[in-house]
Amino acid sequence: MDDTARERRWFWATLMLSSITVAAVVFSAWELLENRFFRGADYITLHYLYITRGILSSLLLAIWAGWYVLRQRRRSEEELRRSRERYRGLLEVSPGAVALYDDSWRVTEWNAAAERLYGFSKAEVLGQFLPTVPPEKEAELRGFLTQVEAGRPVLDVETLRRDHRGICFEVQLSLLPFREAFGRNFFLEVTGDIRERVRLRQRLLEIEKLASMGQMAAGTAHHLNTPLAAMLLRIQMMQERSHHGPCAGDLDRLESGLHFCQHFVQRLLEFSRRAPVDKQPQEIARTIESVVSFFAPSVLAKRARVALEVSQVNGQQVLADRNLLEALFSILLNNALDAIAPGGAISIRCRTIAPAHLEVQIGDDGCGIAPADLPHIFEPFFTTKGPGKGTGLGLAIARNIMVEHGGSVRLESEPLKGTTVFLELPLYRTVAAEVEVPA
Ligand SMILES: Nc1ncnc2c1ncn2[C@@H]1O[C@H](COP(=O)(O)OP(=O)(O)OP(=O)(O)O)[C@@H](O)[C@H]1O
Ligand SMILES: [Mg+2]
Repeated sequence: MDDTARERRWFWATLMLSSITVAAVVFSAWELLENRFFRGADYITLHYLYITRGILSSLLLAIWAGWYVLRQRRRSEEELRRSRERYRGLLEVSPGAVALYDDSWRVTEWNAAAERLYGFSKAEVLGQFLPTVPPEKEAELRGFLTQVEAGRPVLDVETLRRDHRGICFEVQLSLLPFREAFGRNFFLEVTGDIRERVRLRQRLLEIEKLASMGQMAAGTAHHLNTPLAAMLLRIQMMQERSHHGPCAGDLDRLESGLHFCQHFVQRLLEFSRRAPVDKQPQEIARTIESVVSFFAPSVLAKRARVALEVSQVNGQQVLADRNLLEALFSILLNNALDAIAPGGAISIRCRTIAPAHLEVQIGDDGCGIAPADLPHIFEPFFTTKGPGKGTGLGLAIARNIMVEHGGSVRLESEPLKGTTVFLELPLYRTVAAEVEVPA
């Protein structure tokens, strides 16, 4: 017997018993009155008295029963209201996005977390077809619903859902059956955003892949270095011998190919470098100036204009490996020089930012990066420069260097307008500087 049936029985039993009690009290009172005041009454008077007694008792009983039933109903309504409020409250505070829908996928409940996660307001989705299932996941959901109906709940599965902009993202989903008192079947879907978890997992896989690739690359590069140098030397000797000979053009091409191979090997070694870093306080403005002056011939060859604004950070230091810092700025300057047209502009700006960080912006007015390429530019070996021109390792090395120094690198770009790289590094503060109190 379920709770409602038990409650109903209990209600009727108390109503009957209390009505019998009321009737017994009324009759006893009546008997006492009769004994006291109508002992000598004649038959007709007694007859009227019985009729009146019958009518009054029935009226009293009806009033009693009516009041009792009404009171009970009010209590049940109040209880129902409270339990609804409790259930709503639970739904609202639930950290997971909760959607309750029937077997035709019409939404009947939608909590605040679901509003936040999917961007659909409750008013928008109530009574509507569940809007968060991407078309390619509809068959999967149908399978889940069949499984749930067969009594096997779906717990913590990873799948995709889409938000109000139609953007798909990873969620962890649990699906449970929900049966209402009057027999309707509902499904309770609880989802949580796992984008960050998936991203970290992918990053971890990437790191593992890179680590093994790095080991392999280091070995290969190491073995290629010596024969490459020997080949280059031999070609240069041949060039000297047949200066204007028939093979001069071929030798030039061979030389530039070998230079690229050497550059590639160098980059591979930098990328897979496992040597310990030697971090010392470095004045960032001076490091940038020295790298820029090193690039003067390339800048001149391209008739580029380089605007350097580092005065804001004069005297500011970062704790870094000098060689790595120079490699970092060389990679970024190289990219900017490759991207600009002859006569183009490059700007390097530095400033301090809170909390105790330093930002370096390296901007150019070059070709920019296509939006489709942007997500891949930090991937090792991703290049748009064509075979024999770019290794695609520059930005991957730059990112490794930044991570190694507790900093970060990001890039903004607009095709045909230019690119800006933002580097953020923690400032080096000596203990003396930290305890220094302004006068
Ligand atoms: N300043 C920039 N302007 C336009 N595109 C850029 C810029 N910096 C990077 N890119 C794009 O990002 C890609 C990856 O750059 P990365 O430095 O990793 O490799 P690369 O420059 O192609 O090769 P390498 O560094 O060995 O010369 C480039 O091929 C280019 O498409
Ligand atoms: Mg590069």
